[in-house]
Amino acid sequence: MVSNSSLIFAKAPTEFPQPGQHLKKETKEFDLDQSLPEGSVLAKTVVLSLDPYLRGRMRDGGESYVPAFDKGKPIQNFGVSKIVKSANSAFKEGAHIYGTQDFSEYIVLSGDQLKGYKVLENKENLPWSYYVGVAGMPGQTAVYGLKQIAKLKKGETIFVSGASGAVGQLVIALAHSVGAKVIASAGSEDKVDYLKNELKVEVAFNYKTESTEKVLKANPFNAYWDNVGGETLETVLNTISEYGRIVACGAIADYNTPNPYGIKNSFQVVAKSLLMQGFIVLKTDIGDFYDVIPPKIASGEINPPKEHIVKGIDQGEAFLDLLKGANFGKAVVSLE
Ligand SMILES: NC(=O)c1ccc[n+]([C@@H]2O[C@H](COP(=O)([O-])OP(=O)(O)OC[C@H]3O[C@@H](n4cnc5c(N)ncnc54)[C@H](OP(=O)(O)O)[C@@H]3O)[C@@H](O)[C@H]2O)c1
Repeated sequence: MVSNSSLIFAKAPTEFPQPGQHLKKETKEFDLDQSLPEGSVLAKTVVLSLDPYLRGRMRDGGESYVPAFDKGKPIQNFGVSKIVKSANSAFKEGAHIYGTQDFSEYIVLSGDQLKGYKVLENKENLPWSYYVGVAGMPGQTAVYGLKQIAKLKKGETIFVSGASGAVGQLVIALAHSVGAKVIASAGSEDKVDYLKNELKVEVAFNYKTESTEKVLKANPFNAYWDNVGGETLETVLNTISEYGRIVACGAIADYNTPNPYGIKNSFQVVAKSLLMQGFIVLKTDIGDFYDVIPPKIASGEINPPKEHIVKGIDQGEAFLDLLKGANFGKAVVSLE
């Protein structure tokens, strides 16, 4: 027997989730010698991803693009785990696997659950944490939105909000790789320094201390990568160039309030002939992502991502940090 800690969904919040109240840590005994049903595996979690969309799953049922979490059960998200014991010939002992799993130290995955899983070959020998960030779902998000919606050309400029995070970092790298310029916003001086000095962003600013409107009026831009929604989106609609493209990726400014910001100028989409398109990366075809992105990271063509790694299962503190911007880089829970 070993002890197995999990992060449990206890109660739906109306605003920011409070550690120990809406999310709780629970520790139970776990039998490493249990007999496994045919087709299943027993695995030890290596890393788990913390992503803003999890906040939307902390609700009392109802329709959405992802199901609500079950109360009293572990929350679930993308993770990399190492197989300890296998009753499935396609998933061998010792292999690292990627997919959606319980937020627990040890897991048993049925044959059905494994259908959504990928065995990570990791020929490039990247840190496993990259597979829940730049080489995982957030990376797939950046690649899809830029290629299919922003369609940036050399010489154009894109404004990226939430720019220092998991998705933003790769959006910036890919925009630069096609010869586009980047305006980027983030919520602290450290993050702005990183955007300027490490990611070589042409214009970076702290949206908490500088006027977004002033910066955008002074720096014409053709495309907007929207990670935040709300007032920033309203300002963008007023300042983006004619025929601009808006990639509606997320709206974190509205995730923790029962009163989302009411955009008042949506007619600018018509007046400026804008294209605005949203997408859910889980419903897209990721194509050759795994053949392209990990080698580019290994070769240095894409900078190593900045990560915010937290050790061990907590009571939801690290998730609250992510929602409040206290993370600096891709938020990952490491159980190594
Ligand atoms: N459409 C899809 O399929 C898809 C897939 C993945 C992610 N997303 C979305 O993409 C966005 C970025 O995700 P991520 O994983 O890269 O997260 P992240 O940027 O690593 O972390 C979230 C960041 O949001 C910023 N933030 C929090 N509250 C804010 C507010 N009121 N206004 C402006 N910024 C705020 C904080 O940074 P600051 O310090 O800069 O405020 C925080 O660090 C999220 O909206 C997420 O839901 C969408």
